Amino acid sequence: MITLNVNIDHVATLRQARGGNEPDPVSAAIMAELAGASGIVCHLREDRRHINDRDLRILKEVNQTKLDLEMAANEEIIRIALDTLPDLVTIVPEKRQELTTEGGLDVINNFDKMKSLCERMHEKSIEVSLFVEPNEQQITAAKEVGADMVELHTGHYANAKDPIQNEFELAKIISSSAFAFDCGLKVAAGHGLNYINTKSICMIHEINELSIGHSIMARAIYVGIDRAVKDMIDLINNATLHRNIDI
Ligand code: PXP
Repeated sequence: MITLNVNIDHVATLRQARGGNEPDPVSAAIMAELAGASGIVCHLREDRRHINDRDLRILKEVNQTKLDLEMAANEEIIRIALDTLPDLVTIVPEKRQELTTEGGLDVINNFDKMKSLCERMHEKSIEVSLFVEPNEQQITAAKEVGADMVELHTGHYANAKDPIQNEFELAKIISSSAFAFDCGLKVAAGHGLNYINTKSICMIHEINELSIGHSIMARAIYVGIDRAVKDMIDLINNATLHRNIDI
């Protein structure tokens, strides 16, 4: 089974465009949950460019499913996470100028920092997922620092310009998922997934969680959040059915 965690950052981005209070990402989260999402993801960035502290606080209060706080390993945000107690934190690299998260974490070169972060989160029973490239060295390091899960970066696969590149990137995700699973890690995937490219990712047996934001909110503009989330869940469930039949 693959569960869908819906990222609501883009709703907050739209709100911030006018600096007012609509649309409210918290309302979007409730609608996504009502439509069947298994979890809600929000990224509290250091610069608060979309999700802000108020959103996170209320999300924690109203969330009925799983709250995944995406964050950088930054001391201020770590303290907020330890105070808020989300179910899961997904640790990402963060650059101020980037449009969105641009690549996976370098766990190898931030080994001690990641180990300490995992220990601090675990003390509060918060699970830790590290967002990494589909790369065995980084996955091994994720296991060694004590992460519970890796989220494999699907951005290069999603942005591949031709079928050969696409197959090449997909093959890396397939083999890395098996590798991470064999290491004893839970395996999630995310970034750039949409109503076309998600199907192949769902065929990977070891993946059991997806984190998707932009494509769902883009579709929601036309059809509403309820339909957009349900369409993605149907797509995931259909693909998963095929993956189970293929065994
Ligand atoms: N996973 C991570 C770690 C991300 O940083 C993002 C983007 O916020 C997503 C998943 C969702 O990506 P998208 O908005 O392209 O679906």
